[in-house]
Amino acid sequence: MNIVVTGGAGFIGANFVYFLLKNRPSDKVICFDALTYAGNLETLATAQFMPNFKFIRGDISDRAAVDELFTTMRPDVVVNFAAESHVDRSIDDPELFLRTNIIGTSVLLDACKKYGIKRFHQVSTDEVYGDLPLDKPELFFTETTNLHTSSPYSASKASADLLVQAYGRTYGIPATISRCSNNYGPYHFPEKLIPLMIINALNDKKLPVYGEGKNVRDWLYVEDHCRAIDMIIRHGRDGEVYNVGGHNERANIDVVEMILHILGKPESLIEFVTDRKGHDLRYAIDPSKIEHELGWKPKVKFEDGIKRTIDWYVEHEDWWKKIISGEYQQYYEKMYGNR
Ligand code: NAD
Ligand code: DAU
Repeated sequence: MNIVVTGGAGFIGANFVYFLLKNRPSDKVICFDALTYAGNLETLATAQFMPNFKFIRGDISDRAAVDELFTTMRPDVVVNFAAESHVDRSIDDPELFLRTNIIGTSVLLDACKKYGIKRFHQVSTDEVYGDLPLDKPELFFTETTNLHTSSPYSASKASADLLVQAYGRTYGIPATISRCSNNYGPYHFPEKLIPLMIINALNDKKLPVYGEGKNVRDWLYVEDHCRAIDMIIRHGRDGEVYNVGGHNERANIDVVEMILHILGKPESLIEFVTDRKGHDLRYAIDPSKIEHELGWKPKVKFEDGIKRTIDWYVEHEDWWKKIISGEYQQYYEKMYGNR
């Protein structure tokens, strides 16, 4: 199969590219990525040597570029990871999120309609369900939970999901959607909680925890997410939504303390800072559907995955030092300077 992976130079997309190259050697993997601040060709350096891998620089909201992608590569499957993905950036400047996440998805769907496709898979997020209260641990997001978004980011992702479902119903595009909880692992851009805290701790810098650090996220090791998507594109049913998560809920402060403990750094590095606007309280996925229908189960326990991730950042200073020495400096100052 020819599999186009949009956003494959970002965190999860790149992990998915490597997952396919390792586990599906007869597939051809084409990464289509605009290389925004979050895309990184160095992440794909090893893939570039593989004969069944090709990188094409392009923007999913650019109709001519997407048409050319479809006519030259003739994809059987498109997996759409390409997105503006950071909630804080969406609060600061929503418009780009609408262009990439909504218009970009519609342009890809139009190409699927025009040229045909065996499967379009939309990589969505549990954030489309909004949040759950902290004092009702019995509540979980299921695939039938109402969409109820909080940030411009999650609103743009929910809009994209609705478009995917509309194109499925109206034009018969064979499409699936996965809604996963928070991922962590190698190649995670250091604007997000776990890599930011690891890198700040390694540099003996303050660790900025929003509010009181009580917000809860449901963490999944990135490879488990990649395996779920691989199962969905091969065995999932057209038109279906699959929630992906591993019942691994943790308060932010507990995650941050764990990172400090593993690195042997003092808790005095923690600094509580002004909370995120509209900050979602708790995410918690009910993954029963994908478990029962496709036999998916997470393989990596958080205690192991977080150690593996920290080791990766310790061993790959070159990768993140280049990132944090560039425009990231201005980003950091803008977001955290007066917080
Ligand atoms: P990321 O920000 O690390 O990577 C996004 C990638 O998309 C980058 O390589 C970037 O260059 C590319 N991109 C951005 N705009 C583009 C455009 N217009 N055209 C082509 N490429 C473009 O994001 P991530 O954390 O890897 O997330 C990937 C997807 O998974 C997103 O759709 C996100 O909503 C979803 N998701 C993320 C998580 C998570 O915890 N990170 C969890 C669930 C779902
Ligand atoms: O749930 C899936 C989503 O997870 C994805 O759809 C998003 O693309 C991804 O970015 C992530 O969103 P979050 O907002 O949950 O992730 P983030 O790493 O930005 O923040 C995790 C929690 O940590 C959140 O409660 C905010 C808090 N936080 C974050 C940062 C960056 C801090 O306390 N301090 C920080 O500096």
